[in-house]
Amino acid sequence: MAAVDGKSKVISNQWVNDNYKHIVVDVGPIASKVQPGQFFNLSCPQVGTDKPFFRRPMSTYHADKNTHRVEFLYKVTGAGTRGLATLKAGEDLSFLGPLGKGFSLKSHYRHILVVGRGVGLATLAPLAEHASSMNIQVTAILSAQDSGRLMSQHRFHDVNATVFEVTDDDGSSEVDKVKALIEEINQKNKIDSIYTCGSVRLSKLLQQLAITFDCDGEVALEQHMACGIGMCYCCVRPIKVGEKQPQVSKRVCYDGPVFQIKEVVL
Ligand SMILES: Cc1cc2nc3c(=O)[nH]c(=O)nc-3n(C[C@H](O)[C@H](O)[C@H](O)COP(=O)(O)OP(=O)(O)OC[C@H]3O[C@@H](n4cnc5c(N)ncnc54)[C@H](O)[C@@H]3O)c2cc1C
Ligand code: FES
Repeated sequence: MAAVDGKSKVISNQWVNDNYKHIVVDVGPIASKVQPGQFFNLSCPQVGTDKPFFRRPMSTYHADKNTHRVEFLYKVTGAGTRGLATLKAGEDLSFLGPLGKGFSLKSHYRHILVVGRGVGLATLAPLAEHASSMNIQVTAILSAQDSGRLMSQHRFHDVNATVFEVTDDDGSSEVDKVKALIEEINQKNKIDSIYTCGSVRLSKLLQQLAITFDCDGEVALEQHMACGIGMCYCCVRPIKVGEKQPQVSKRVCYDGPVFQIKEVVL
C-alpha cells in the first residue's frame, strides 16, 4: 500500500516533559503498513502569527495495526510544532504517510546495538521492538543532557533490552566514554549491526566503529524537508557507496531517511 494523503483524528496530545509532547492519532488501516524508521508528514495547524506552510516530518514512535493508532513524540521548537501542540482530542490532523525507507534487520542477526539521543530515541524504540519480535537481542545506549531529559526508557526495558543511560551532566555521554562502552559491549557479545539517530557526533563514532567491528549499521538522518516525497530535491545529502565510487546526492525523504552508516558523509 502506498502512502495515504488523509485526515486523522487526534486521540490525545500530552506533554511528557518541558519540551516534548506525545500525540496519538487514528490514521486508519494504513497504520498496519508502518515500518520502524518511516515517517509521516504532518500538516501543522496555523495558529496566530505561526503559519507553517510545508508539512513537518515526524518519525513514527509507535503504530498499532489493530487500533489504527500512530504515535509521534515531538519537540516543540517552531511554528509547525507550536501549532501541533495546540491540537486537542477529537480534532483533525491531515497527514501524508508513511513515507521513506525504514530500518532493516537481517534474520541471522543475534545482537544489535541502538544508540540514540534526544528525539532520536523515538525513532529507535520501534526498531528495538521489531528486533525483539525476531528474537534478536538488543543493547540500547540512551543519551541526553541529563537524566530528566531521557525519554522512552520503558520502551527498551519492555523488550528486555540491556539499557545504558549516558548523560552530559556526569560526563558519561562524552564520545570517548561511549566508545569505550561500545567496545566493551562488543567484546562481551559481538554486535551484528549498529543503529543510530539524533546525534551527528555519535553517528560519526558509530560509523567508525562499524568499520572497525566489520559489522552492518544504519543511521536515520534528519534534514529540512519540503515535499517529503522526492519531488523538490531540497533534502539531498552526500552519499558515498564504496571506496572507488563517486559521491552522489540522495534525497533523505525518498532514498532514506535510513541509510547505510558506512555510506553517509557526516
Ligand atoms: C525524517 C524526519 C523525522 C523527524 N522526526 C522527528 C520526531 O520524531 N520528533 C521531532 O520532534 N522532530 C522530528 N524531526 C524534526 C522535525 O521535523 C522538525 O523539528 C520540525 O520540522 C520543526 O518544525 P517547526 O516548524 O516546529 O520548527 P522550525 O521553525 O521549522 O524549526 C525550528 C528549529 O529546528 C530546526 N529544524 C527544523 N527542521 C529540522 C530538521 N528536519 N532537521 C534538523 N533541524 C531542523 C530549524 O533549523 C530551527 O532551528 C524529524 C525530521 C525528519 C527529517
Ligand atoms: S523533501 Fe522534497 S525531495 Fe525530499
